Amino acid sequence: MAVRTRLPTLALHRSRQTKECHDTHDTTTEAPGDDPAAVGARMLNAEDNRLLTGVGPDTPMGRMLRGYWHPVLRSARLEADGAPVRVGLLGQKFVAFRVTHGEVGFVDEACPHRCTSLALARNEDNGLRCIFHGWKIDVTGRVVDVPTEPRACRAAFAESVPRPRYHVRESGGIVWVCLQQGQPPAFPDFEFHALPESQRETRIAVMHCNWVQAMESVLDSAHLGLLHQGQLQRAPADASMADHVRTVFGNTQQDTAPQLEVEPQGYGFREGALRQLPDGRRYVQIREFVAPYYSLLPAAPTVARRFIVASVPIDDEWTAQWFIHFSLDGPLTPELLAERWQHAPENPDNFYENPGDIGNLWGQDREAMRNGHFSGFPGRHIFHEDFIVQEAMGPIVDRSREYLSSSDRVIIHTRRQLLRHARAHAAGAPAWGLGPQAPASLARIRAGSAYLKPGQDWREIDTHAAVEPQPASAEALAPHGETTTT
Ligand code: FES
Ligand SMILES: [Fe+2]
Repeated sequence: MAVRTRLPTLALHRSRQTKECHDTHDTTTEAPGDDPAAVGARMLNAEDNRLLTGVGPDTPMGRMLRGYWHPVLRSARLEADGAPVRVGLLGQKFVAFRVTHGEVGFVDEACPHRCTSLALARNEDNGLRCIFHGWKIDVTGRVVDVPTEPRACRAAFAESVPRPRYHVRESGGIVWVCLQQGQPPAFPDFEFHALPESQRETRIAVMHCNWVQAMESVLDSAHLGLLHQGQLQRAPADASMADHVRTVFGNTQQDTAPQLEVEPQGYGFREGALRQLPDGRRYVQIREFVAPYYSLLPAAPTVARRFIVASVPIDDEWTAQWFIHFSLDGPLTPELLAERWQHAPENPDNFYENPGDIGNLWGQDREAMRNGHFSGFPGRHIFHEDFIVQEAMGPIVDRSREYLSSSDRVIIHTRRQLLRHARAHAAGAPAWGLGPQAPASLARIRAGSAYLKPGQDWREIDTHAAVEPQPASAEALAPHGETTTT
């Protein structure tokens, strides 16, 4: 992932039904000694927060995270014999490069000799040559030439230079890396890997907050009809996009207190976010969560496009959030992409460039707020609204100050599982989602959404079934002026 230069009217609650209060008691947690969190409970003490958020090599979470594959760069960033690209991952600095024959190398940024940056190195003849003393490193990270040693002992000396060896793989237009020494885990073979290039695209946003903070905003279904309600004031020309916007933002605005249900799975969990609509129907959004940070997001029931969002830690305070966008039924056309990414900077390696900060409140527009725009960011991409509220918590939010509500149930579940698995991993257990219960493949795991039939359980819904036309509810279909994307 790119290392950012900074390296380092309230929605109307129109629900007409009376709902039972639901608490945040996480019935799915298996951790002994976990206190059920009742509504209003405080969540984490400072020690747990440090365990949750620390990603360095000497931390329990950091050690667990080193056992996964991570997306680190779009493949298109690397040219054969082209410039190496700096990558921050899990609190360490690396460079990625493509050698003459086309393979990708991934090595520590610090030269193994005296640690100058290999981002400055020459990339030629199938390796990086450091410009300081000319040591050469091949695509596997092995030192293969040491011109500063007498000729007679060069080869033996080069062989003696220690080197970590990282696993590298290219798939789906992405360079993936696992830092674990020894055998890597199973590759995350999500269904988009098998799609033609015309049906997938990837964009990245680099944000100044910890990876869990970034991930939790994606896991937070309740904010859709609140923070993002301004989306209903815009109108995409593309019919499927317009339907998606009306459905997702219309329905979530009509019931801002979704009932959240979590089903643990070998790879993570499934979440059903259930909303009662004024016309009597129930609408469910089914998310798949794949450990440690993948959120598979549904679109409207009629829309065959999906997002996988991955919150990849650069270090404790910076995150590269990946948006892997794919279509199950045809190319992502330029027109659709233009509409989808309206108001986002064009740079696919950071569509959150120069976003502002707390000092200028990210350019929030009070005039627009007075005129009815809820968040005050009418000219920003919808995801920017998420990034701004995440960053506004500070780089690592103090979770001991939170006061959680029933809408935080999925976040509570995820935190508990991360903490439980990091502790278990430190004691020798497999990482979360990589144990014996993990499926052999992730290719069939797909998010979805639907209008439930009377008495239907969301767990019965086949997210692989063909999409069927289903109107958004009458209120969502009422004219709102403009509309847009998720
Ligand atoms: S620092 Fe790279 S060769 Fe000396
Ligand atoms: Fe959001």
